[in-house]
Amino acid sequence: MRVGIPRELTLGEARVAVIPAGVAALIKPGLQVAIEHDAGIAAGFPDSEYQARGAELLSRADLLQASDIILTIQAALPQASLRAGQVVIGFADPLGSPKAIQDLAPTGITLFSMELMPRITRAQSMDALSSMATIAGYKGVLLAADTLPRMFPMLMTAAGTISPARVFIVGAGVAGLQAIASARRLGAKVEAYDVRPAVKEQVQSLGAKFVELPLDAADAEDKGGYAKAQDESFYRRQREMMLKVVAASDVVITTALIPGKRAPVLLTTEMVEAMQPGSVVVDLAAERGGNCELTRPDELVVHNGVTVIGPSNPAALVPYHASQMYSKNIITFLLHLLGKDGATGSTFPVNQEDEITRETLLTHGGAVVHARVRELLE
Ligand SMILES: NC(=O)c1ccc[n+]([C@@H]2O[C@H](COP(=O)([O-])OP(=O)(O)OC[C@H]3O[C@@H](n4cnc5c(N)ncnc54)[C@H](O)[C@@H]3O)[C@@H](O)[C@H]2O)c1
Repeated sequence: MRVGIPRELTLGEARVAVIPAGVAALIKPGLQVAIEHDAGIAAGFPDSEYQARGAELLSRADLLQASDIILTIQAALPQASLRAGQVVIGFADPLGSPKAIQDLAPTGITLFSMELMPRITRAQSMDALSSMATIAGYKGVLLAADTLPRMFPMLMTAAGTISPARVFIVGAGVAGLQAIASARRLGAKVEAYDVRPAVKEQVQSLGAKFVELPLDAADAEDKGGYAKAQDESFYRRQREMMLKVVAASDVVITTALIPGKRAPVLLTTEMVEAMQPGSVVVDLAAERGGNCELTRPDELVVHNGVTVIGPSNPAALVPYHASQMYSKNIITFLLHLLGKDGATGSTFPVNQEDEITRETLLTHGGAVVHARVRELLE
């Protein structure tokens, strides 16, 4: 079977699904590898490096036509270029755009979603959402530091003492924890809050202060470790209680997400107005509608002297390492799906008894097969 890696065409998408170092991992079990011209160039991986590792260089049309398996970042490929039986693996936004999945099903492709990777130990090395969140948390801090008219560290100099920047991180999941660590490394004074009380210790172990809000988050966490949605009165009380911390912060970085739902609005216009001019908000939930009312994806909004930045695809702003991590995740996933002898066979094995397969498989045999996506469509 031939694995094809197309160039990403989505605006602002500088990542590539497989880096040159991944080619050998695919060839070893018996797969052929083809790469579209310049697929890795924006991430820092030239064609020559893929070729040197045994990948064949193809035009887009030839690659899409000749590949049995397509490994991609954004799975939204034009339907006309796909054929029945082809396997496509990538980010497909199945919970955000289930209709697009339904439209793809009749092509007969077997589509797997990287977003729906179950959070079990066995699948940790395939968990691209965590990889990308790690990058986003780091980059979010750098965007804030670069925009803030102040320095992050405390300095005692002959010209006086510089006080450290105060950074408040809302949401301490994978991205939030990386943001805490990155802001701490730059010397900021960091505070953080999350609805899941379980993260308090993790926040503290990174040297940040956990902001205690006297909020009773009923059932804050689901069995997958994700936050559960709260009702609007909870979010209203949360906003009221966070106001004081927000007003005292130079930087607020928001990362709060609920899987399959719009991001909760945790920062209102009034809250931003309570911040000092020059302060910065980085909204890492911009792609899911944003945690801040003022966020406009990929635009710089200046309100009352406060800058609000909402990168819709922050991982793509660090394309080299984002691609390296994604490549490792998607190849591990593919080799898992293929099983012991699958790479040398002529048909792609789909074992729905396997939890990882079942949880990530969206379309197969012309139909949407994923239970949760089917529910959303009904
Ligand atoms: N293989 C595994 O076991 C595995 C893999 C990845 C992540 N995890 C765990 O899952 C958890 C969440 O992961 P994630 O970062 O991908 O989640 P996520 O991206 O869905 O959400 C980001 C964070 O926002 C928080 N949040 C939601 N609503 C909020 C609100 N109103 N106020 C403040 N914070 C709010 C969530 O609790 C979460 O911590 C983490 O604890 C992580 O360690 C486990």
